[in-house]
Amino acid sequence: MIKVLSVASECAPLIKTGGLADVAGALPAALHEHGVEMCTLLPGYPAVMAALGKATEVAQIDGCFGGAARLLAGQAAGLELLVLDAPHLFDRAGSIYLGPDGLDWPDNPERFAALSRVAADIAAGELGAWRPDLVHCHDWQAGLVPYYLKRGAAEPVPSILTVHNIAFQGHAPMARARALGIAKADLSKDGVEYWGQISALKAGLVFADHLTTVSPTYAEELKTPEFGMGLDGVLRSRRADLSGILNGIDLTVWSPEVDSHIHTYKTPRGKLANKKALRAEFGLPETDGPLCVVVSRMTEQKGLDLLQQALPALLGGGGQLALLGSGDPGLEAAFKAMDDPNVAVRLGYDEALSHRMIAGGDAIIVPSRFEPCGLTQLYGLRYGTVPVVALTGGLADTVIPMTPATMAREVATGLQFHPITAEALGNALSRLCTLFQAPKLWSKVQRNAMAHPAGWGPSAAAYAALYADLIEAA
Ligand code: ADP
Ligand code: GLC
Repeated sequence: MIKVLSVASECAPLIKTGGLADVAGALPAALHEHGVEMCTLLPGYPAVMAALGKATEVAQIDGCFGGAARLLAGQAAGLELLVLDAPHLFDRAGSIYLGPDGLDWPDNPERFAALSRVAADIAAGELGAWRPDLVHCHDWQAGLVPYYLKRGAAEPVPSILTVHNIAFQGHAPMARARALGIAKADLSKDGVEYWGQISALKAGLVFADHLTTVSPTYAEELKTPEFGMGLDGVLRSRRADLSGILNGIDLTVWSPEVDSHIHTYKTPRGKLANKKALRAEFGLPETDGPLCVVVSRMTEQKGLDLLQQALPALLGGGGQLALLGSGDPGLEAAFKAMDDPNVAVRLGYDEALSHRMIAGGDAIIVPSRFEPCGLTQLYGLRYGTVPVVALTGGLADTVIPMTPATMAREVATGLQFHPITAEALGNALSRLCTLFQAPKLWSKVQRNAMAHPAGWGPSAAAYAALYADLIEAA
């Protein structure tokens, strides 16, 4: 077995704000079949500490970025875990990233530098814990791991950084360099500097042995100024070490045949009971039109402002919208203020409701301006809930759009729109309403969608092969 330490700031089902958690939570089991033994290092947030049953103290860490900490080993939800129990950094109520004022916790750079430092020490065999052959780092929160490894360990094990979203870069003022353990010589453009600040993500992009992102299209997009968010130059310089490996979904959690939150079903007809229940739950009237759902963080990325502008096309075509989301206060207020009997909005985060929505909806709308992979369209495919997606990133890689050619070959699984504007989205929603009135075609698309292989299979194999190559080359 290859031993891999996965370092992540969230991991389903223990702690989740978005798709990163789903991926970090699903990979260990998916990789096990491919000869990988994966242990996940997580911060000791209250939810993680509560889930961690009987744990073993592996090490005591004095002076861990401003306080004493312990490294614990244990299991929860079928995951092998190492947990950094550092109350001064992680024992906080509310969001794992944001304080009560809605802004980043001021010490986020130190919180995740601590996680990264401990990961590097584990990998160097310094904490007496299990020692991995490779470290797999996720997003900026683990971005400093490759840096600490390269600058600290005598014989560093190889590291991979996976970019789930380039929009989050982990910036810190230069004045914090000493506290973060970054050498002066590395505060340059070729090192961890980003426009006069430190960037933990850039540290990972520069120092990791290999980079991956979560879809092949996003891997290409990241190298362009339009999508690279200032780091496209670094990504171009590392193009030989960058691969796009598409996310899968955990089919033990997200399959209509086994989902414990819904009226289970095997064929699209089985959706009807879920649709009826969902309409009742949201207070939406029974109509002949498509019931569209959205489950999303409400941020600029997700393009929900475009959806709001395009809604007349959906409603005019007889469609309905049920939305679950939270985030930007302006967007939340705008959706909450909508006064239409065929639009229903739930603000907040609700895992169980998200399952009921994906099962009960006829279609799921994902109008993102950019989307590294996106998981809700994959859930939609698996549940026969036809995805209507923007042509970008992983959305482009996972949905086969309806065109005359794909319809003739009977392979279409959804609708795509481009350019990413309210007008193009409105046109797609009108097409959706028309398609919905052609039951034969509609159920063909649903069945194609349900047959789409959305699990981890080939992607887990790709990660395992990559790990093996890097370990061999080290
Ligand atoms: P991102 O990670 O950018 O938010 P993804 O599509 O990769 O986008 O993953 C989002 C994950 O978070 C999905 O599992 C989705 O169901 C879930 N999710 C997003 N918003 C909510 C919400 N308000 N309630 C419940 N689940 C949500
Ligand atoms: C990020 C991206 C999303 C991706 C998820 C998991 O949050 O925004 O597209 O699916 O990470 O990789």
